[in-house]
Amino acid sequence: MADNERASEPVISLRNVAKAFDGKRVIDGLTLDIMRGETIVVMGGSGSGKSTTLRLMIGSLEANEGQIHIAGTDICCATEDELNAVRKKIGVLFQSGALFNSMSLAENVALPLVEHTELDREIIDIQVKIKLELVGLREHADKYPSEISGGMKKRAGLARALALDPQILFYDEPSAGLDPVTSAEIDRLIIDLSKKLGVTSIVITHEMDSAFAIADRMAMLDKGKMLLVEKREWFERIRDTEGADVEKLTDNERLIRQFLRGDAEGPITDRKAATNYAEDLLGSPMPRESIPSVFSTRG
Ligand SMILES: Nc1ncnc2c1ncn2[C@@H]1O[C@H](COP(=O)(O)OP(=O)(O)OP(=O)(O)O)[C@@H](O)[C@H]1O
Ligand SMILES: [Mg+2]
Repeated sequence: MADNERASEPVISLRNVAKAFDGKRVIDGLTLDIMRGETIVVMGGSGSGKSTTLRLMIGSLEANEGQIHIAGTDICCATEDELNAVRKKIGVLFQSGALFNSMSLAENVALPLVEHTELDREIIDIQVKIKLELVGLREHADKYPSEISGGMKKRAGLARALALDPQILFYDEPSAGLDPVTSAEIDRLIIDLSKKLGVTSIVITHEMDSAFAIADRMAMLDKGKMLLVEKREWFERIRDTEGADVEKLTDNERLIRQFLRGDAEGPITDRKAATNYAEDLLGSPMPRESIPSVFSTRG
């Protein structure tokens, strides 16, 4: 297959995906194609559905509607064997790191190799050392998660995500809580894995410096819907729009601009202020007359 063909082939594709918890839709008609070898950054406010989207993509949550294909497999209808084959191709760095506390870092990183391969213990030990070295933790191999810092836990989680040399890597907030240097190192690692090994990366992040450093494309989620997916350069242009040109932007572009710049004022904060408190509490619009008032008296 020619390189340009390979690049234009989606490795993950979501079509009109919906997911509800307790009857409330948190993902609502999501459509997205992720191309082989690209790094896509997924952004959005807290609660917009980023982690849920990730869990739908890796098959740890089942969608209520729509189709999800990953590495050629329709995950809604896959057998357990097919799902396991997909799991071998993907690595996930969860938001919390998700290490097993009763295992040393080396044992945590070895786990996917023990579970999914027939490799000899000596080979596994070498693989574990290579992965821990990659994230700068080789000398801490025998420590337990409770004995290391938050940033080290993140890096250990990344070493475990890399254990099976995955083709697709998912990162949920890889640099949250890290110091700027460690954060830049993680960015460098994401870029290297993508450029040198052709890994496809899906990165959820709030860190804008990091997002702009690593992204080929960026996707903006808003209340469970995909607001926009564009090349990084497009987002850079929106972020850097100043003065009278801001007035020429569409509503969505202005909303995205505020998010990218972290401005304290703009459409996002205006919308929050305009949200009816009762609606916010109860999760659905209420007729005005049925909104309880603290001043109402009965009888
Ligand atoms: N297992 C669950 N049960 C019920 N509700 C859930 C569950 N998981 C997520 N939600 C809800 O779905 C919505 C989206 O959550 P999600 O974790 O995807 O947000 P997020 O964009 O990752 O936010 P953050 O930036 O804070 O991590 C939230 O309202 C959340 O409370
Ligand atoms: Mg999240």
